[in-house]
Amino acid sequence: MRAKDINGFPRLGIIGGGQLAKMMAQEAKKMGFFVSVLDPTPGCPASSVSDLQVVGDFYDEEKLEELVNQSDVTTYDLEHIATEPLKRLEEKGHAILPSPRLLEVIQDKLVQKEMLKKAGIPVPRFMKVEQNSLDEFKKFGFPLVQKARKGGYDGRGVAVIGSEKDMAKALLTESYAEELVDIEKELAVMVARSTEGQVKCYPVVEMIFDERANICDMVVAPARIEKELEQKAREIATEVVKALDGVGVFGIEMFLDRKGNILVNEVAPRPHNSGHYTIEACLTSQFEQHIRAICGLPLGSTKLLSPAAMVNLLGEEGYEGTPWVEGFEEVLSIEGLYFHFYGKKTTKPFRKMGHVTVIDDDVEKAVEKARRAKEILKVKAR
Ligand SMILES: Nc1ncnc2c1ncn2[C@@H]1O[C@H](COP(=O)(O)OP(=O)(O)OP(=O)(O)O)[C@@H](O)[C@H]1O
Ligand SMILES: [Mg+2]
Repeated sequence: MRAKDINGFPRLGIIGGGQLAKMMAQEAKKMGFFVSVLDPTPGCPASSVSDLQVVGDFYDEEKLEELVNQSDVTTYDLEHIATEPLKRLEEKGHAILPSPRLLEVIQDKLVQKEMLKKAGIPVPRFMKVEQNSLDEFKKFGFPLVQKARKGGYDGRGVAVIGSEKDMAKALLTESYAEELVDIEKELAVMVARSTEGQVKCYPVVEMIFDERANICDMVVAPARIEKELEQKAREIATEVVKALDGVGVFGIEMFLDRKGNILVNEVAPRPHNSGHYTIEACLTSQFEQHIRAICGLPLGSTKLLSPAAMVNLLGEEGYEGTPWVEGFEEVLSIEGLYFHFYGKKTTKPFRKMGHVTVIDDDVEKAVEKARRAKEILKVKAR
């Protein structure tokens, strides 16, 4: 690590100024670090809690250089960014973590899957496809899930092709085929690994999906699964991060199938939606942990202090424009509820606008309260 600020703290740079950057910056500012963000939108969510915003595109090398020049360590809050300029900046001696090379592997879901398979991590059966043709899909076998190799998020870039009849739904982009897993539960585990090689794993959580939007709707911590499965999921997640030689915090998404197998779905090289509960429910939040990991500081405890349930606040269907939150005052009377709103300037249907975490000694009560909050809260537009 190069220069440090006058207090001896590393200066943090973040590419992308969305909600993940905002929550990272909040933790960094709590510790008194200097924080800069790069984002094309002036007044992006993270800018309100950062020292400085460089307004510019993520692929603008001059702007990236401006950011890394005033940062001792630079990270990112989104994975769809150009890695070539990052690699060049790294060569010039700038610390960019997780490494651009690792990011490249993760950006291509097929390369990521191949890498995981090679490392002996259990993954769903998959096959590279060349032309997205019926013949290839038939060869792989229905039902299948077709996935875009690059650029997908929040379920975009994922098509379930149940049979020949669904071919109209097939994606036309570079993709691969994956077996349709008979999912019992979707699980996620956050794992941190520092520049010093220290590793800490968070509890296993359940991700519950919104059928309409295919976006994670609720996260329940801890996952309501047997102890042995919990142990196994944590072991696999830790293996994934070691196999990737990753530095930072990683979100490992997994499927628990109906036969009790755990299969890794994908890896996010950053704090993750499924780890928001750690802010209130764990000794060290995923955001502080990420900063500790990339700055080479000792990692904090990942101990769960209380069961928790988190719900995403998505923009209501039929509303677009300046957000207006309905039910805000009402939900604040729910005991153990924490309200987060990201400060995005416009709402759109299904856009992640904020989240709510409820902690309760009883996990079922936390779930029930979070559901109630979700019913009350509506992100509309003025
Ligand atoms: N092989 C599969 N079998 C069954 N369901 C799947 C499979 N792959 C993906 N899905 C479903 O689609 C969802 C989105 O898939 P995936 O996580 O690969 O895409 P994504 O666009 O990166 O999503 P996100 O950004 O929400 O993580 C999964 O959470 C799961 O519900
Ligand atoms: Mg996913």
